[in-house]
Amino acid sequence: MKKRDIFLLLGAAAIIAFLWMAPEETTKRIPKNEIHQRMYDTFNTKGKKAAGELCQECHNADGVPFPEDHPAKYRCLFCHKLEQ
Ligand code: HEC
Ligand code: HEC
Repeated sequence: MKKRDIFLLLGAAAIIAFLWMAPEETTKRIPKNEIHQRMYDTFNTKGKKAAGELCQECHNADGVPFPEDHPAKYRCLFCHKLEQ
C-alpha cells in the first residue's frame, strides 16, 4: 500500500468518526410545541429542506438568539432532530 493510500484511509476514517460522533445524541431536539408545530407539519408534508428553511425566520440575531458558541447557522435539522 502506498503512503498516499494510507492517508486517504485515515482521512476517510476521520470523516466517518466525525459524522458518527456528530452531536446527534446531545444536541437539543426541536421542541414539539405550538411554536414549532409548523416545522413538524412542513417536515411531514414538504420534507427536511423546506422545514429547515423556516428556522431562521425566528432564530436569527434579532429574534431568538443562538448560543454564543453555536456551530452553524444553516441546515438546522442536520443536528437538531425532531422529537420522535
Ligand atoms: C415561529 C418562530 C420559530 C421558528 C420558525 C422556529 N423556532 Fe425554534 N424556537 C423559537 C422560540 C421562541 C424558542 C425559544 C423557546 C424557549 O426559549 O423556551 C425556540 C427554541 C428552539 C430550540 C431550543 C429548545 C430548547 O430546549 O432550548 C431549538 C433547538 C429550536 N428552537 C430549533 C428550531 C429549528 C431547528 C427550527 C426550524 C426547523 C426552528 N426552531 C424554528 C421560535 C421558533
Ligand atoms: C453542526 C450542528 C448544528 C447545526 C447545523 C445547528 N445547530 Fe443549533 N446547536 C448545536 C449545538 C451543539 C448546540 C448546543 C448544545 C445543545 O443544544 O445541546 C446548539 C444549540 C442551539 C440552540 C439553543 C438551545 C438551548 O440550549 O437553548 C438553538 C435555539 C439552536 N441551536 C437552533 C439552531 C437553528 C435554528 C439552526 C439552523 C439555523 C441550528 N441550530 C443549526 C448544533 C447545531
